[in-house]
Amino acid sequence: MEEDKQLTTKEAIEKRRSIRKFKTDAIPDEVIYALLESARLAPSGCNAQPWRFKIVKDSATKKQLQIIAYNQSFITEVPVVLVVCADIQGYLEGRASGVQDLGNIGVFNEEICEILNKNTKIKSQMSIENLRQSVAFNVAIAIEHIVLRAQDFGLGTCWMRLIDEKAIRQLFNWDDKIYPVALLPIGYPLESPPPRKRRSLEEIIIE
Ligand SMILES: Cc1cc2nc3c(=O)[nH]c(=O)nc-3n(C[C@H](O)[C@H](O)[C@H](O)COP(=O)(O)O)c2cc1C
Repeated sequence: MEEDKQLTTKEAIEKRRSIRKFKTDAIPDEVIYALLESARLAPSGCNAQPWRFKIVKDSATKKQLQIIAYNQSFITEVPVVLVVCADIQGYLEGRASGVQDLGNIGVFNEEICEILNKNTKIKSQMSIENLRQSVAFNVAIAIEHIVLRAQDFGLGTCWMRLIDEKAIRQLFNWDDKIYPVALLPIGYPLESPPPRKRRSLEEIIIE
């Protein structure tokens, strides 16, 4: 597996752009697995690890995803699209086991474990709709790990959140416990966009 360049974290953050034009070159499977490995290592609340990934390479499914993504056509140009989801049931189970592990190593005392376990029970009775928010930001961290790591292989990505979640579930025959969070097209860039506008530090620091 060839890593194009080993970027520092700073370089990866500064060089990253959303890429929407791609070469058609295939991505070796081991590279895709290296990207998923970086997602696997992401932090999550109570170590629940709710992220799940569907790897899409075939043109017919990509065409379907284009329709589901409100006709954002660049999705059909990439060799690989990750459909990144949250597994709601897996989240609750992962949370329960994570609380136990963190209790065992003394991160949480008994009282906190009890509160967290109670909270997990309450969550398990919550509607799936309400649980989505809790899982989504955990999944977002895993996605961003992939986005940054992709650059070590000279790959470009683009977060896609403008999607019809229900249609994705229908396409893959998933029940409503699988929550599609975003699509992530991945490929070798055919464009090199300049940095996009950002707010200044003064604007983002609350005094
Ligand atoms: C949560 C999220 C959702 C996004 N959804 C889309 C999308 O559906 N389609 C798209 O072309 N870009 C999407 N983007 C990319 C943004 O437009 C992009 O990050 C922003 O314009 C800044 O540009 P940069 O990423 O090149 O710095 C999304 C980004 C994020 C973080």
